[in-house]
Amino acid sequence: MKESYVIAVLPGDGIGPEVMLEAYKILEVINNNLNVKIHTNELPIGGFAIDTCGTPFPKKTLDGCIKSDAILFGSVGGEQWSHLPRDKQPERGALLPLRQFFDLFVNIRPIKLNAALKQLSPLRGRVIKDGFDILCVRELIGGIYFGLPKGRNTFDKKNISAFDTEIYSTKEIERIANIAFKLSLKRKKKVFSIDKANVLESSVLWREVVTKVSKNFPDVQLNHLYVDNAAMQLISNPSQFDVILCSNLFGDILSDECAILTGSIGMLPSASLNKNFFGLFEPAGGSAPNLKGKKLANPIAQILSLSLLLKYSLNLNIIAEYIELAVINTLKKGYRTFDISNGQDYLSTDQMGTKIAQTLSEIIK
Ligand code: IPM
Ligand code: MN
Repeated sequence: MKESYVIAVLPGDGIGPEVMLEAYKILEVINNNLNVKIHTNELPIGGFAIDTCGTPFPKKTLDGCIKSDAILFGSVGGEQWSHLPRDKQPERGALLPLRQFFDLFVNIRPIKLNAALKQLSPLRGRVIKDGFDILCVRELIGGIYFGLPKGRNTFDKKNISAFDTEIYSTKEIERIANIAFKLSLKRKKKVFSIDKANVLESSVLWREVVTKVSKNFPDVQLNHLYVDNAAMQLISNPSQFDVILCSNLFGDILSDECAILTGSIGMLPSASLNKNFFGLFEPAGGSAPNLKGKKLANPIAQILSLSLLLKYSLNLNIIAEYIELAVINTLKKGYRTFDISNGQDYLSTDQMGTKIAQTLSEIIK
């Protein structure tokens, strides 16, 4: 009998539904050719859920996610919902609560540039050397995103002030640092911890706790970097990096920077996991409303997010690797979407998805 799984599929807004169609093609190839059956349960989220159910995060969506083995997420957000109170908007009303509800404190973003695809990077060849393979490990449900108090003082209408709180506890830092060190054991055994300990109290604690956790991993080399310096070095010498360990905000910023180093944010997948490796898998790039409906979106981040889902939540490592290889081989054959093209010769979102699905069938057979 086939192993069987159920994944909740939340296409959401903007380019989300378009790129999700391409992930479905990959699932079809897997279901038709391998000894596994992955069922999907598509559910409304974000702006689409506001329009169809009156709330960005409907109860039926939460229930469907709870019953699933993992969540494949598209993206949420768009101008048309920006007039709503912030906690009713797609990001703060759906994505952040989802991360919080399932305790998805680990966010993993693999940033790999294959040497054969050097030309995709905006960096020059001599900087890229033989490509790079960086794993961004971002704390996802703490820090300034969720820290309290958060709000506004409006008593002086002519000079309102607004504030957020960057706060981390020993336990929060320990658990994410542990994950980063463990992941580095399967790699080059180097962790770069990012902070701003020359200014911020929360960073001083971050550095102390990460240093303490590192004592349990004597084989792993730990480096501390200030975030401004890290932002610079990612551009001047990306191949020196291995695992980078970041707070929520610093990880948000540096992972976008890393994404563009590989050519386009449209290629960066992300895995958000809890301690049981239940997870939500989503492109890092967001809903890109300006690309919606134009068939220009790159489906690779969504397809690689599916690959991460298979790897981390379903433990189907080999199939996950097939998908990754299908993406790399399709790029090596020269196929490009608009974002990574010369602006003239490129495939539409669905043509690219079809090419990757075909390449995957060839690999499997
Ligand atoms: C990301 C996104 C989100 C974040 C937004 C959409 C809330 O930018 O996943 O990186 O800031 O975490
Ligand atoms: Mn981001």
